[in-house]
Amino acid sequence: MKPNLTGKEFEEIKKVLDSGYLTEGPKTKEFEEMVKKYLGVKHVIACSNCTVAMEMCLRAAGIGPGDEVIVPDYTYPATLQVVPMVGATPVLVDCDIKTRNIDYDEIEKAITDKTKAIIPVSQFGNPLDLDRLNEIAKKHNLIIIEDAACSLGAEYKGKKVGTGVHMATFSLHPRKFITTGEGGLITTDNDEWAKFIFSYKRFGMIYSEERSQIVFDKLGTNYKISDILSALGVSQMREIDERLAKRIEIAKEYDELLKGDEIFSLSKVDPESKHNYQSYTVFIEKDVDIIEVIKKMKELEVEVQVGTYCLHEEPAYENVKKIGNLENSSKLKKRILTLPLHHDLTLDDQKIVIEKLKKVLRDL
Ligand SMILES: Cc1ncc(COP(=O)(O)O)c(C=O)c1O
Repeated sequence: MKPNLTGKEFEEIKKVLDSGYLTEGPKTKEFEEMVKKYLGVKHVIACSNCTVAMEMCLRAAGIGPGDEVIVPDYTYPATLQVVPMVGATPVLVDCDIKTRNIDYDEIEKAITDKTKAIIPVSQFGNPLDLDRLNEIAKKHNLIIIEDAACSLGAEYKGKKVGTGVHMATFSLHPRKFITTGEGGLITTDNDEWAKFIFSYKRFGMIYSEERSQIVFDKLGTNYKISDILSALGVSQMREIDERLAKRIEIAKEYDELLKGDEIFSLSKVDPESKHNYQSYTVFIEKDVDIIEVIKKMKELEVEVQVGTYCLHEEPAYENVKKIGNLENSSKLKKRILTLPLHHDLTLDDQKIVIEKLKKVLRDL
């Protein structure tokens, strides 16, 4: 992966520098408005990164000590880390081999009278089954905070990811196809939560009409984003449709190149969903050590990567509450490979990647 920077960003950054307004201000508002219109959601709040975005969603929903929050085991650690940040207890559940997303049946097994929320991840940009998730949430009175770090532009049944759940969060890290270097976005249709989050990221301040002045009515912190960074977002959001179309085109080429070879299992996408292919992942149907594959590919000058992490196998999360043996997650960690995908990748590049990968897998 490499960021797709076109040089057009400089114009927007210059406007911010010329304005002298370098912290969060009008450019961030402009960025939020663009994303709001694009997604079709009532509120979009920009902040420092996706991790603190999730933390603020938990706080907005009033989740804290004594509460349990269900998270998938196969994900980036941030999804889990935010739960103890608010004093709540994470509960790990297994994932589905084909979609790489949380296993909905396992969620049901994890629910106790302490469960207050689920943080499902639309992993690699593959949309979640929101009908199923919302049914579970409604039945058990749970809040869904979707970790949509990778899923900007993806769709479920014609609606953009970031809608159709209580709250969702996106990452603007440079691995994402719209990036501000560091940054995050929160979406919600709930006015109260939006108001809380907007205030929390600004030290807990509100403007009191009654006192005609700023008042700090709750604890808060500084999770703002700089207008210099939002300028990157504004510039890139203008081209989001083209950027997304290009990613999907490259992904479809990989699908074609890998099709018919039984050693590769492609990601399963619901026919009513649109994957944004933030990461193009392939499951290797051979008992190989993925780290060895990565090493061998590097020797052939092709950079491939693991998919993401199997949290219960990481030393920091050994003692986290688990449901079942989480064997799919372990398998995904061991057998998923992320292939190169960036805006300038050509079909010839892709052919070389697959040719070398097949050779490495034959030899191992
Ligand atoms: C699924 C998931 N959640 C959260 C994050 C953290 O995002 P950020 O770096 O913006 O805090 C990432 C990072 O890539 C991620 O992949």
